[in-house]
Amino acid sequence: MQKLIIKGGNRLRGELSLQGCKNSALPIIAAALLCGEDCTLHNCPRLTDVYSASRILNCLGCRCGFSGNTVMVDSSAVTGTEIPEALMREMRSSIIFMGAMLGRMGECTVSVPGGCELGPRPIDMHLAAMRKMGVDVREGGGRILCRTSGGKAKGAKINLSFPSVGATENIILCAVTAEGETVINNAAREPEICDLCGFLRACGADISGDGGSSIVVNGRMKLHGCEYSIMPDRIAGATYLSMTAAAGGEIILKNACIPEMEPFLTVLEQTGCSIYTGGGKIYLRSSPRLRAVPDRIRTMPHPGFPTDAQAVLMSALTLADGTSIFEENIFDCRYRHTEALVKMGADIQVLGKVAVVKGVSKLSGASVEATDLRGGAAMAAAALAAEGTSEITRISHIDRGYEKFEESIRLLGGDIRRV
Ligand code: EPZ
Repeated sequence: MQKLIIKGGNRLRGELSLQGCKNSALPIIAAALLCGEDCTLHNCPRLTDVYSASRILNCLGCRCGFSGNTVMVDSSAVTGTEIPEALMREMRSSIIFMGAMLGRMGECTVSVPGGCELGPRPIDMHLAAMRKMGVDVREGGGRILCRTSGGKAKGAKINLSFPSVGATENIILCAVTAEGETVINNAAREPEICDLCGFLRACGADISGDGGSSIVVNGRMKLHGCEYSIMPDRIAGATYLSMTAAAGGEIILKNACIPEMEPFLTVLEQTGCSIYTGGGKIYLRSSPRLRAVPDRIRTMPHPGFPTDAQAVLMSALTLADGTSIFEENIFDCRYRHTEALVKMGADIQVLGKVAVVKGVSKLSGASVEATDLRGGAAMAAAALAAEGTSEITRISHIDRGYEKFEESIRLLGGDIRRV
């Protein structure tokens, strides 16, 4: 089993190009199923979750070819409507293939995706929306059988009780070829939703309102192939900026998606880091010692502070002057990384959805185990800032979402190697 060995103490400096966005690439790869023709996707990150998504397409009869960061998907021939349980469990977001399969084949058999890492990952909103769109949904033994009547879903007005990213994506994927109009109220406003809709419009879909809380989709008989470039990964950007804030130094992120990163940048600025943006670049110079963030850091749906940046920012704030308070409002169990940070010397008290982070003067290297994707990245950030050497195991979590993780950190001067 591979692990990362990190020797802390190096300041980070240099320029880094941001990888393509994992949470855009996954729904867009699923959406390629809808076209029935060739789709070429540029700026696609090479991640284990992306390979899982391509394996799902392969199992449905589609062909996927990778060339660098370009993926060619040929979905002209589909031979199946069932995703095996093992494939469904490889990644939590496999559930978004449900909408694409219903939109293309009019039926599908999938499983309940895994939970655990961040707490249970229910899909009640996904299934309720499918039922509203005339899909017959039967659950039993962990399998979910969905079937439209007459091979097409029906447009519907859907009011989400929570702006779920995955549920919004599944509804859009099912609605683009449904009969009639679908209106999604209280839709997720994440930038990745806009990127998915940009791809689908390039395929001929009729979608409007994405980025706002009400999205309207007029079903089309057929979509066509296209060539599309996936947006940069705003969370990977937040990760490398937080690492630099933690370890000290100054970096430039190239091809950054600045407006989409504003909710994170406005909080990071409060730590005393100097941040300049322009021309698609973000320049960050860390402050000699970070300041604690005065206001409570509440994770919220976009355009609130992103839950995916909570762990990495927390790593930086473990060394700040003062006490910062986090409130995790999206997932039930997203503080699993704090145990490792405390083992490295951090002072963190978790009380339900609140984490109180009291800045300490130093962290010390330790052997820790990655608990989840962003928690693993947070441990690496803390290790880069710590005195001494750290070892991080179960780094397959990190490989799910970060392309060339250790290469990127080494490029910035961090002492890190994979063994
Ligand atoms: C997406 O997950 C992202 N994953 C997550 O990123 C991200 O943290 C999350 O959105 C929130 O922004 C991908 O895009 C692949 P949700 P998703 O549906 O779609 C509850 C990362 O680190 N809920 O918005 O699963 C759910 O349990 C990952 O890159 C229901 O109760 O998020 C959670 O508490 C982690 N019932 C909350 O809503 C449902 O039917 C938000 O979930 C659906 C969701």
